[in-house]
Amino acid sequence: MKGLILAGGKGTRLYPSTNVISKQLLPIFDKPMIYYPIATLMLGGIRDIVIISTPTDIPNYQKLLGDGKQWGLSFEYCVQEKPEGIAQAFIITEALIKNEKVCLILGDNLFYGKLDFFRNAIKNLASATIFAYEVENPQSYGVVVLDKDKKPIDIIEKPKVFVSKWAIPGLYLFDERVSEFAKRLQPSSRGELEITDLQKMYLAFGELQVEIIGRGIAWLDTGTPSNLIDAALFIRAIEQRQGRKIACLEEIALNLGYITKSDFIRFVEQMPDSDYKRYCIKVYEEHSE
Ligand code: DAU
Repeated sequence: MKGLILAGGKGTRLYPSTNVISKQLLPIFDKPMIYYPIATLMLGGIRDIVIISTPTDIPNYQKLLGDGKQWGLSFEYCVQEKPEGIAQAFIITEALIKNEKVCLILGDNLFYGKLDFFRNAIKNLASATIFAYEVENPQSYGVVVLDKDKKPIDIIEKPKVFVSKWAIPGLYLFDERVSEFAKRLQPSSRGELEITDLQKMYLAFGELQVEIIGRGIAWLDTGTPSNLIDAALFIRAIEQRQGRKIACLEEIALNLGYITKSDFIRFVEQMPDSDYKRYCIKVYEEHSE
């Protein structure tokens, strides 16, 4: 399965912080935001990843993340000339997706908790799977309306009136037809190829699976300055309590066997003296071959 991380957009809600830097490069406590969706894909077993961003930001992502080998991953980079919609990601990357299934994660979506729901969805993917998460402010998201058997009936992007409490997180699984379907979409009134319209296409074919994410998982939004600080404090609280980092990519790569212990320490030795490096050394010392 191919992973796509969409990390472009204008970041207008975070202006002026995003004036010269891409939103997904801003820190969430002790690491750049994009580390978290990379960690999610890694924990789902996805190692071939395409990073999509603006023409000006792609060089920064390349500088930060390289080719991914240090984490046992493979990164490719793709430019989205203009933020013309989330579903455009599948058109831009069509040649890279080839005939694979795809997982798209938005670069500003952060998941914390045991990711069995994600791994199971990947394993059981038929045509398209989205997730549903109960929120207090569904009007800020794409939402899915479920019937009494929790089957999807309708999908609405940012509903003005209440129709469902089930927000759709920015984590989507699609089959090999996704680029073909994305090309059939028409821009919405705000001029975007809407991810919800793509979901509706699968729904119309009776091929959309919805998996509810339970309360044991935290799905955090990083859209506004307040969301950003809430997410950072959440990560800090857990990391300081346990002395374990969330989304330390080196640690995940080592634990999943994506890299060897000697690859790990070779990479860590190049890090500048920092709290992050000290943590990686602790991981190294604890790790049994
Ligand atoms: O976070 C989940 C929500 O994400 C979903 O529930 C919605 O259905 C979905 O439309 C999206 O809503 P947002 O309001 O968060 O969309 P936004 O336009 O802010 O884009 C989400 C991220 O994707 C953002 O970090 C920027 C990036 N992006 C967005 C667009 C439209 C791009 O890189 N390129 C784009 O063309």
